[in-house]
Amino acid sequence: MRVLVLNGVNLGRLGKRQPEVYGATTHEQLAQRLVVIGQDLGLQVEVRQTDSEAEMVGWLHEAADREVPVVLNPAAWTHYSIALADAVVQVPRVVEVHISNVHAREGFRRHSVISPYAEGVIAGLGLGGYELALRHLAVTS
Ligand code: DQA
Repeated sequence: MRVLVLNGVNLGRLGKRQPEVYGATTHEQLAQRLVVIGQDLGLQVEVRQTDSEAEMVGWLHEAADREVPVVLNPAAWTHYSIALADAVVQVPRVVEVHISNVHAREGFRRHSVISPYAEGVIAGLGLGGYELALRHLAVTS
């Protein structure tokens, strides 16, 4: 089974950006790790990151048309992008992941416009949240 891991705005700066919140691992290292974990789980994992909302919407349309499950970290778009929510609702399987515990931070991070359309949400477990999401998709496919 193919799985897309889609990371939103600013997540390309993992490793440099607020390491006390998001850790020291770079996006490249995360992507490599998730591909290997996917192989162990029998998943063909492709990891993408963009700072362009339009590009992210395009990838979600692709997942919807090809019926590819998605692990999605919508990053800041989580909190306000109705455009992303309208795209996510078209994708059959979406697991929402946040590296940090969005409920233990600023108030504006507590609300997600994506969560109503996600089959599950993982937050605050660091990069391990992506692995858990992949495991969930693998065992329930
Ligand atoms: C994030 C949390 C968001 O609030 C923030 O805007 C991000 C990353 C997370 O992974 O913890 O960019 O989605």
